[in-house]
Amino acid sequence: MQVSVRLLKVVVFMTLSLPLVWLGYAVSRELSNPGVVLGADPGEAVLHFFGDWTVRLLLLTLSVSTMRRLFRQPAIGRYRRMIGLFAFAYAVLHMLSYLGFLAEFEWRIVLEDFVDRTYITVGISALLLLLPLALTSTRGWQRRLGRRWRRLHKLVYPAMGLGLLHLLWLTKDGYAEPLLYCAIFAGLMVERLVDWRRRT
Ligand code: HEM
Repeated sequence: MQVSVRLLKVVVFMTLSLPLVWLGYAVSRELSNPGVVLGADPGEAVLHFFGDWTVRLLLLTLSVSTMRRLFRQPAIGRYRRMIGLFAFAYAVLHMLSYLGFLAEFEWRIVLEDFVDRTYITVGISALLLLLPLALTSTRGWQRRLGRRWRRLHKLVYPAMGLGLLHLLWLTKDGYAEPLLYCAIFAGLMVERLVDWRRRT
């Protein structure tokens, strides 16, 4: 692998880790000055923080193919796996924040929420759809699954859709941001449709 590609991978990795660095800083400030950075309910703030970054990074993952085509830069595709795995990691941290701060690791509460609160059911379904994608993201699995790998990885579309539905469902303070995310997703899907029609 060329040195410049490796270097860029390190840069992408560090950029995607920046939210975690910010959160580390926020938590350290909270310890000395409670409520200053994360507000009255730090647990909820952390939960929302990871939820927001999951949506943003899933959209970024989906936009890699679009950017590759629009700018005629196939090399951009090299970073898609890393961005996708970061999106999955943030989704898992989001889920763990829910389990720790809201459900307090009480499986009875999780089960009740899963049955009674539809947005939780939808969120968990989105995460479950992302799981096989993360597990089969390696080159080895790509080779082993062949054409089926591409088909399997189309699960990212329903996962993104369910993630956005989950967000729209639970939003209480304004729809501007969720609708912006939905518009970006719609734009990326339209670009794929146009590309597919051009090729067939
Ligand atoms: C791909 C999967 C998921 C995505 C994209 C996602 C995204 C989000 C986003 C963006 C928010 C709102 C953040 C904000 O308002 O600033 C949120 C909140 C939340 N999510 Fe998720 N989420 C996902 C999966 C899950 C899962 C698996 C659970 C739990 C089992 C969950 C539980 C929650 C809860 C409890 C809230 C806060 C609700 C409230 O404020 O009352 N999410 N999620």
